Amino acid sequence: MREYHHYSLVNHTTFGIDAVTDRFVEYESVDELLSLLPDLQNTPFLQIGAGSNLLFTKPFHGIILHSGIKGISVKEDDDSVLLKAASGEVWDDVVSYAVKHGWSGMENLSAIPGEVGASAVQNIGAYGVEAKDLIVEMEALEVKTGQIFVIPNGDCCYGYRHSIFKDLWKGRFIILSVTYRLQKSFVPKLDYGNIRTELERNLGENYEGILTLSQLRETIVNIRHAKLPDPKVLGNAGSFFMNPVISRDLHMLLEKQGFIVPFYEVDEDRVKVPAGWLIEQCGWKGRRIGNVGVYEKQALILVNHGGASGEEIVALSDAICQDVKSKFGITIHPEVNFI
Ligand code: EPU
Repeated sequence: MREYHHYSLVNHTTFGIDAVTDRFVEYESVDELLSLLPDLQNTPFLQIGAGSNLLFTKPFHGIILHSGIKGISVKEDDDSVLLKAASGEVWDDVVSYAVKHGWSGMENLSAIPGEVGASAVQNIGAYGVEAKDLIVEMEALEVKTGQIFVIPNGDCCYGYRHSIFKDLWKGRFIILSVTYRLQKSFVPKLDYGNIRTELERNLGENYEGILTLSQLRETIVNIRHAKLPDPKVLGNAGSFFMNPVISRDLHMLLEKQGFIVPFYEVDEDRVKVPAGWLIEQCGWKGRRIGNVGVYEKQALILVNHGGASGEEIVALSDAICQDVKSKFGITIHPEVNFI
């Protein structure tokens, strides 16, 4: 177990913001976590993963917990594989492991920063796949009782970047491991964004017949790297805002006003629109204010140019939300969790 007091979280969030916690503990086994439970009963605590979706806006007066529990185990049947990964495994290492073994399902989620425990809380998603499509169940420790529960996917109230662990069960459980179902046959999902264009560019127009699982992973990694800044170089938390869902009526009204807003289908009455597009239209793409700014290649990403505080990011976020609201009448909400 590693434990530090009055500890800077600068290396524990991808935003690279220098917030201090009273205490930081990394446990490496369930027993170590159990030994911490008495302290968690009356002190505020927060379980973090790689900190890729967190924004600390002030010092944290409590305990930050990080899982160092590692391990992957596998159960196979004829067609599919149940892959169980411990909470502290790095998400992309698990994806790489699955792809190397020829198991399909996670490849579109390649190169997402973060760890396994958080993947199940945040329901990470990209290129037409979400973690919830793969998750079968998870093991979680109830903080109050120390009991370990197996929680099936169906109990997690999964939605877009959402789960029950973010509201009703916030702070109730600590996830120990997550089990995902993967397929032995490769069924590529290629219909999101520019995946097909990239494949055609790299493999020629008959790519569908020759495409392998690792080529698809490589393509996704390349698309992400071209659009998203490396947090080691430029602090960021990926998409800062969620893509808002609006009524078709509003979408049509905007069209009448001359805004041809791109959209994804949601249901009969609603569409989802890219927040990045809205923000770009408001003139924010590439703008910098002091230590913070909007990434030049993807307006959905707020960046720390160095030495930013959480408050500076919040001020930028507020200004962007206001501009989007007054130009389009659409409220956008952060995907990043403010602490
Ligand atoms: N767009 C712009 N300007 C921009 C950015 C985007 O006009 O600066 C428009 C373009 O029309 C583009 C469309 O927005 O075609 C969608 O952009 P993109 O495919 O980059 O996806 P996104 O909606 O911006 C979402 C996820 C990403 C995920 C990608 C790919 C959210 C909030 N973000 O972004 O997730 O990687 O799709 O699936 O849903 C994350 O959550 O941290 C994240 C990176």
